[in-house]
Amino acid sequence: MKFSFFTETTPPLIGIDISSTAVKMVELAANGRGNYKLEGYSMAPLAKDVIVDGNVNDLEKVAEAMKLAWKLLGSRERRAALALPAAAVISKKVLMAADLREEDMEMQVEAEANQYIPFSLDEVNIDFQVIGPAPNSPDEVEVLIAASRKEKIEDRVAAAEGAGLKVTVMDVETYATEAAYTLISGQLPNAGREQTVMIVDLGASMMHINVLHDNKSVYTREQSFGGSQLTQEIQRRFGLSLEEAEIAKRKGGLPESYENEVLQPFMQSLAMEIARALQFFTSSTQYNRVDHIVLAGGCAAIPTVDVMVQDRTQVNTVVANPFHNMAISSRLKQQQAAIDAPALLIACGLAMRGLDI
Ligand SMILES: Nc1ncnc2c1ncn2[C@@H]1O[C@H](COP(=O)(O)OP(=O)(O)OP(=O)(O)O)[C@@H](O)[C@H]1O
Ligand SMILES: [Mg+2]
Repeated sequence: MKFSFFTETTPPLIGIDISSTAVKMVELAANGRGNYKLEGYSMAPLAKDVIVDGNVNDLEKVAEAMKLAWKLLGSRERRAALALPAAAVISKKVLMAADLREEDMEMQVEAEANQYIPFSLDEVNIDFQVIGPAPNSPDEVEVLIAASRKEKIEDRVAAAEGAGLKVTVMDVETYATEAAYTLISGQLPNAGREQTVMIVDLGASMMHINVLHDNKSVYTREQSFGGSQLTQEIQRRFGLSLEEAEIAKRKGGLPESYENEVLQPFMQSLAMEIARALQFFTSSTQYNRVDHIVLAGGCAAIPTVDVMVQDRTQVNTVVANPFHNMAISSRLKQQQAAIDAPALLIACGLAMRGLDI
């Protein structure tokens, strides 16, 4: 497999997000005039400790979940785009002479990588991409270098192969979120142009933050906070197993006290975490405000969470719906797709790699 954080387009493929609680798959098709069609999506749960801190801890369990997700997807496509968590990738922007030939650039990338990567170069995969002209120097270009330990890539590839899938693209989760942002920017006034937008992906254990200014990423960060805190509180309060708590959380059916005594306090701490993230961002960067917050991840499906966050932060807040501008296959349930959409942002960004529209 070619290691390909940056390869722009490839043949059609399935976008696969291996997250801490599930394997999520999305398949898109081109729908003419620059639009996408959602062909299908699926999710297969992963037990606790199968993925730990983004690392594959139990290869067979991941392969099993991938097999199930692929079956549920009902696709014939076996090629896939996967992503590494940002923490597994070292990335750095460097300047290089604009007139370098490809081979010379490759050599310079290796030389640069040698300086800042704390491993021997034969233990890592390196990829690079010319971003564009250097801001203040007409003879130079900005080059983004990304490197990761081979074993992190090989584990994911092996899990996919165990499920009969073929990995043709290995991306980075934060890049996939940025790519998928083009699907949701239409939900914002003036499509987000010239504005500062904070995407907050609220997963099970982590809050992934990605700030874009004028539709380009300027900041990423992770905070340890997520929906599993709510699940654990449900388990504790109502004496339920993890599975029961997870189902009750999504489908309802909990005692009346749940709303006020469990859910509301959780939403308050969630809003407070986001307010803190905002403060970190404005105090540590040149930006002194955020114009919009976009909520993604499974916790964004909690009703009125956007209202709560907006009240607390005083920043316009919307729930990400990467499907909002897509035609949706008639095989899918539209209403359920809208509920699942925020948790599929990364898988969508990966699925987009297979299409050049
Ligand atoms: N409808 C819902 N209502 C409330 N919570 C939900 C709903 N759907 C999912 N969640 C919660 O969202 C979390 C899962 O979100 P998501 O799928 O984004 O996580 P993940 O990507 O596996 O996690 P991470 O990104 O931390 O690895 C779980 O805690 C789950 O209980
Ligand atoms: Mg996630």
